[in-house]
Amino acid sequence: MGKLQKNGFQGEAYQPQEEVFFNDGREIALLHYVYSHPELENMRGHPQKILDAIDEYGRTKKYLMNIGEYKSKTVLDLIREVKPQTMVEIGAYVGYSAIAFASAVKDAGGRRYYSLEHNPEFGAVTTMLVDLAGLSDIVKVVIGSSSDTLRRLAKNREIDHIDLLFLDHQKPLYTPDLMLCEELGLVGPGSVYAADNVVKPGNPPYLEYVRSTVAQKKKRFAALGHDGLKGNPNLVYKSEFVEGWEPSGVPDALEITTCVES
Ligand SMILES: C[S@@+](CC[C@H](N)C(=O)[O-])C[C@H]1O[C@@H](n2cnc3c(N)ncnc32)[C@H](O)[C@@H]1O
Repeated sequence: MGKLQKNGFQGEAYQPQEEVFFNDGREIALLHYVYSHPELENMRGHPQKILDAIDEYGRTKKYLMNIGEYKSKTVLDLIREVKPQTMVEIGAYVGYSAIAFASAVKDAGGRRYYSLEHNPEFGAVTTMLVDLAGLSDIVKVVIGSSSDTLRRLAKNREIDHIDLLFLDHQKPLYTPDLMLCEELGLVGPGSVYAADNVVKPGNPPYLEYVRSTVAQKKKRFAALGHDGLKGNPNLVYKSEFVEGWEPSGVPDALEITTCVES
């Protein structure tokens, strides 16, 4: 733990990221930490207090791969601007972003926050912490691989339009999952995407995709000539890079993309 004042990062950092930094029991340890917290009774129904307790664990116990309070600010500003009725995140982990963002979606008059997670244990931790935060009425945690879940939610007509999409799962899946959303008609003009970790560890194929023109996308797809995911190359995107910091104090950025027309 330490006070970092590097590259504009101010405040107390999370523990450094170790070689093995998740799925080693720390997620269940976090649940015990929160549920045996001396302030537990004051935390019930207060999203910010749950986030503070998760941050406290990350700072004093073990690193957690959460978006953290610094990069969260960018997404919170977007939520206030976009006022999404439906927001989807891919990658729940222990529920930090779900608690931070669903609370803001609720405040902005939104209807539903879908939190997609393929690890059932992480999904269970998210569900417990979301419940403690008093957000079970808006958050739906869905367990399964992102592509299967997106297909099912679209097929069941549970989701017909994603206003705000937060991508925070396996980096090589950002582009195919976005293309799948395009193909399923879940995104279109007015949809906004926030993609995390575009510096650390980075995601050049995703940045290239969302920064391409319609003509470039069509040309690339024709050259590939495959019969896999087609996406919707007609969607016109405006995309920008917003710098921030990992909760461990390491510089990172979000790519914010708006679908401006089709
Ligand atoms: C960086 S963590 C998410 C952190 C969380 N969004 C936050 O900021 O609090 C990435 C999560 O994505 C999940 N994940 C990875 N690939 C996935 C997939 N294909 N479908 C659903 N979840 C996936 C991992 O299990 C992990 O919990």
